Amino acid sequence: MRREGRMTRAQQEALGRLGQSYLITENALQDLDAVFQRRAPRVAEIGFGMGDALAAMAKAKPHCDFIGIEVHRPGVGSLLLKLEKDAVDNVRVVCADAVEVLQHHLPDTTLDALHLFFPDPWPKTRHHKRRIVQAEFAELVRRKLKPGGIFHMATDWEDYARQMLTVMESTSGYQNVAGVGAYSPRPSERPLTKFEQRGQRLGHRVWDLLFMRARE
Ligand SMILES: C[S@@+](CC[C@H](N)C(=O)[O-])C[C@H]1O[C@@H](n2cnc3c(N)ncnc32)[C@H](O)[C@@H]1O
Repeated sequence: MRREGRMTRAQQEALGRLGQSYLITENALQDLDAVFQRRAPRVAEIGFGMGDALAAMAKAKPHCDFIGIEVHRPGVGSLLLKLEKDAVDNVRVVCADAVEVLQHHLPDTTLDALHLFFPDPWPKTRHHKRRIVQAEFAELVRRKLKPGGIFHMATDWEDYARQMLTVMESTSGYQNVAGVGAYSPRPSERPLTKFEQRGQRLGHRVWDLLFMRARE
């Protein structure tokens, strides 16, 4: 399902003008060396929103390749404009459902890191089952990571943070980087997004969780 929302003229125009440079199909994920024309550490971000964190991290780490996966097309347009502005060329975007993409298109043991920053919190108890971090998803992500790869989550919802911790510590094949039962200090490399800034204004705390795929 693609959620459209409102798209500005600039975002729409960016999708048309820059799409060829940055958008890739799900099938292209089968050969990322061909997509990026090199072999490099690979990082994916799921649900990058307007792309603030992704654009900043890709700019800060030109030696890494970044794959953004987002369903919200206005957000994709917004990211493309940021990438163009800073002449960032180590990012490619798949505009599709991330769970589908991971299940059916991204090969196993591809990623050095996977970022999931401020996923939809679904605050109502009856909607908690819609949250993306569930046992099955944790296992799916583990398979996509290389051994030693990091699954980095952040949320400003305390009970979602607790759910993430419980799910991740119940999934075998991961090690909590901060130690059992602990949250990680905010890594300085994670840029502040609009979503997080809004949370800060509302007085929300932020919880970071870093889990490493165990080395076999
Ligand atoms: C609450 S927003 C956070 C956006 C951004 N990470 C930030 O921190 O500002 C969650 C984002 O995840 C995206 N999203 C939700 N489910 C998704 C899915 N299954 N696949 C890809 N993107 C998804 C939404 O479109 C939305 O942009």
